[in-house]
Amino acid sequence: FTPKVLAGRKVLLTAGPTFEPVDPVRGLTNSSSGKMGYSLARACAHAGAEVVMVSGPTGLPAPDGVRRIGVVRALDMRDAVIAELDGVDVFIAVAAVADYRPEASAEHKVKKSGESMTLTLVPNPDILSEVAARPDAPFCVGFAAESRDLDTYAEGKRQTKRLQMVVGNLVQDGLGTDDNQVVLYDADGRHPLPRAAKGELAGVIVSAIAERFGRSLLR
Ligand code: C5P
Repeated sequence: FTPKVLAGRKVLLTAGPTFEPVDPVRGLTNSSSGKMGYSLARACAHAGAEVVMVSGPTGLPAPDGVRRIGVVRALDMRDAVIAELDGVDVFIAVAAVADYRPEASAEHKVKKSGESMTLTLVPNPDILSEVAARPDAPFCVGFAAESRDLDTYAEGKRQTKRLQMVVGNLVQDGLGTDDNQVVLYDADGRHPLPRAAKGELAGVIVSAIAERFGRSLLR
């Protein structure tokens, strides 16, 4: 199945982790590699879409045909996404955005004192919710990686964030294996995809997104 419906469409993705500075040399981040987001961006470009990817710090090269905007903090990722929204048909939020950031980042390196120290964290904006809540919202796809109760959490996210589709997976299903099992959640219910090699999965997910995006145009 070639997702022709994406040809000439603008697809915006977020990918990778964010890095929330504590001081000039330290920060809070997570272990997202960015591989899934970059593979999906590549698959969208392969389908003929104009692809823009806002990426947190990863060691990965931008895939051919993908315009990559590098960012560090969640706040920067949010601003870059909003600045790119014009004309976007499909928004795919793959990034593992830090839920919290330090309230302030120290101008100079924090020195040790031997005392315990408290770091105050404040919530980051939810980029996907913000995009999906806009009156001119594109077709919005979210990701949910859970360690339990996948159906409840993934479908809950779809409804709370007002998304057309959520791609869910149980983290233990894909950990340390060459293949992965994902479940798609949309307005019609849950749709488990066949277990597939991680390299093939991006193409399968993009086909599934294209199919639903195509149907949404007919409504
Ligand atoms: O709520 P949770 O973080 O589990 O939702 C995951 C989905 O929401 C992912 O698609 C992720 O990219 C997106 N997200 C976001 N901004 C945040 C947190 C999550 O866009 N601050």
